Amino acid sequence: MRPKISVIGSGRVGTSAALHIGLRELGDVVLVDIVQGLPQGEALDLNHMAAILGLDVEYTGTNDYRDIEGSEVVVVTAGFIRKADMTRMDLLTKNSAIIRDVSLKIKEHAPKSKVIVVTNPLDVMTYVALKTTGFERERVMGFSGLLDIGRYKTLIAKELGVSWNSIEAPILGEHGDSMVLLPRHTSVGGRPLTSLLTGDRIEAILKETREMGAKIISLKGWSAHHAPGAGAALMVDAIVRDRNAVIPVSFYHMGEYGFEGVCSVVPAVIGRTGVKKVIELELNPEEREALIRSVEKVRQAQQEVDRLLASGAS
Ligand code: NAI
Ligand code: 2OP
Repeated sequence: MRPKISVIGSGRVGTSAALHIGLRELGDVVLVDIVQGLPQGEALDLNHMAAILGLDVEYTGTNDYRDIEGSEVVVVTAGFIRKADMTRMDLLTKNSAIIRDVSLKIKEHAPKSKVIVVTNPLDVMTYVALKTTGFERERVMGFSGLLDIGRYKTLIAKELGVSWNSIEAPILGEHGDSMVLLPRHTSVGGRPLTSLLTGDRIEAILKETREMGAKIISLKGWSAHHAPGAGAALMVDAIVRDRNAVIPVSFYHMGEYGFEGVCSVVPAVIGRTGVKKVIELELNPEEREALIRSVEKVRQAQQEVDRLLASGAS
C-alpha cells in the first residue's frame, strides 16, 4: 500500500507541495480545504497531470477531515498570507486560530502522523501545532529553512559563477528578518565563503536573502509558492523514504543551542520518525548574539499567542 500524505490548505503552496509530492511518487495525496470544490477541482487537475506523466499516485480532494485518517505525513499550509493592510499581529491572530483548529483535526483523525507546518509566522505556528496536537516534538516540524537556504545559494552561485550544487550552507533562528545565516559555516567546494568574498559582498548577499520573501510579494503580488512547495515535498520525501537527510527545520528546543521551550530553525536529521537528531554548530560570540536575538523574537510572539489562545480571543 502506498503511503498517504495529506496537505491541508489547497491554495498556492498546498497545491505546489501536492504537485511535487506526486512528481516524486511519494504516496497518495489527500488535499483538504474549507472552500467547497477547491480541493476537489485541484485533485482532478493533478490526477490528470499524473496520468499524462504516468505517475503512480492518486489525488483526492475533500472538505472532510475524516479523509486524512491513516496519513503518514500531514503538510499544513492553511492560512492567510500577509496582505498590505495586515499587521504582523493580525496575521498571528488569524493564523493561530486556523492552526489550532487544523491541529485539533490532525490530532483526532491522524494521531500517528508527522506534521510539517508551512503557515506563517512559521516558527510560532509550529509551536501552536505542537502544543495543540500534543504530539512528541520529533513529529512536529516547520518548513522554511530549505527556502531561505535556496535563496542564499542562488545569490552565492551567481556571485561566484559556480553551481548551487557545490554550496553547503546551514541556517538557524527565526524564519523572518532575524534569520541567522552563517557565512563562516557556508562552504563552496570545501572552502568557507568568508575566504572567497569580501565582508561587504557577504553582507549584501545576507541582506538580499532576508528581503527575498518581501521582494517576491512586491513583484508578483502574492508570496512565493513554487519553491516552498518543492521544499515541503523534499521534507516529505526525507520522512517517507527514511533518508536521514540533514535539513533545516523549525523545531521545539529542549536545551539545543542553549534554548528551552521555543521553536526555531536548526539543521536536523530527518527520517521516518521525524526529527531524529539536531546538529549543533560551534558559534562565535557574534553568531550566538544574533541567534539569541532571533530566538527571543520568536519567544515573544509565542507568549502573545499563549495569551491569545488562553483568552479565547483568536
Ligand atoms: P493561499 O491563500 O493561496 O492558500 C491558503 C489556503 O488555506 C486557502 O485555500 C484557504 O481556503 C485555506 N484555509 C484557510 N483556513 C483553512 C482551514 N481551517 N482548513 C483548511 N484550509 C484552510 O496561501 P498560500 O500562498 O498557499 O500560503 C499559505 C501559508 O503559507 C501562508 O501563511 C503563507 O504566509 C505561508 N508560507 C510560508 C512559507 C514558508 O517558508 N514557511 C513560504 C510561503 C508561504
Ligand atoms: C517567504 O519567505 C512568505 O515566508 C514566505 O517567501
